[in-house]
Amino acid sequence: MMKSVLITGGTGGIGTALVKAFVNKGYHAHVTHTHKGSEFLDNWLAENQLGEDHVSFLPLNLNNREEVAQQLAALLESSKIDVLINNAGITADSTFLKMDVEQWDSVIDTNLKALFSITQPIARSMVKHGYGRIINVSSINGLKGQFGQCNYAAAKAGIIGFSKSLAQELATKGVSVNVIAPGYTMTPMVESIREDILDKIKGNIPTKELVLLEDLAKTALMIAESGMSLTGETISVNGGQYMN
Ligand code: CAA
Repeated sequence: MMKSVLITGGTGGIGTALVKAFVNKGYHAHVTHTHKGSEFLDNWLAENQLGEDHVSFLPLNLNNREEVAQQLAALLESSKIDVLINNAGITADSTFLKMDVEQWDSVIDTNLKALFSITQPIARSMVKHGYGRIINVSSINGLKGQFGQCNYAAAKAGIIGFSKSLAQELATKGVSVNVIAPGYTMTPMVESIREDILDKIKGNIPTKELVLLEDLAKTALMIAESGMSLTGETISVNGGQYMN
């Protein structure tokens, strides 16, 4: 039977690369998006040469717990999810002294708190089937911290603690939980960094280039195809910018 993957934020920068890689490997992809219109979604499918038969869309706001619960309950009634990739994430960069509480809350809510509503029903279903691969997308900045990202780094570090704990709980149930920590990758999120700051960042990356989307996708596929010995791990994909 065809395997399936659910990818949150699947139409975003890293999300799109993940969807393409998994579909090319023969997976069916369930893609969550924040209520984007059909014109956007049709264009996105066409631009990425994805057929509707390999992709299903799940419009939901990750911060709306009721909506997430309803959508997932309906989905899990008819489908089995083999791989979950918690990829959705936002930034609201500011030095901490200038940060307002909305910048704090929005990033913690979307990047960390939403993991509860998405992961719990899917993990329960995976346990029932005795198989699952949960991949949570953290960041280099959750490991090393980053000037201007107290909110984002806190959420991304939180993802790692969550994953290590859940990995222990599900280790005997056929469900692995791992983390990918991408470095600076060419996505709209990174493109929006001021040019002089981005140039400085690139200068500090040993490979001297931003992380390739295809390298992130290959790492996710590797985890998805691995056995239970690979669990609780955080895999950095950052061009050597931060080694831990
Ligand atoms: N370390 C030490 N000092 C720094 C610094 C750093 N990394 N970055 C800036 N500063 C200093 C500046 O030199 C400046 O000093 P002076 O006042 O003496 O001139 C001061 O801090 C203020 O800097 P800015 O002019 O940059 O201040 P700002 O208020 O205009 O902007 C900021 C603040 C929005 C945080 C901006 O610095 C910024 O965008 N930084 C980049 C943050 C970043 O890396 N975000 C990653 C986004 S991508 C992502 O998150 C994906 C992922 O997972 C990797």
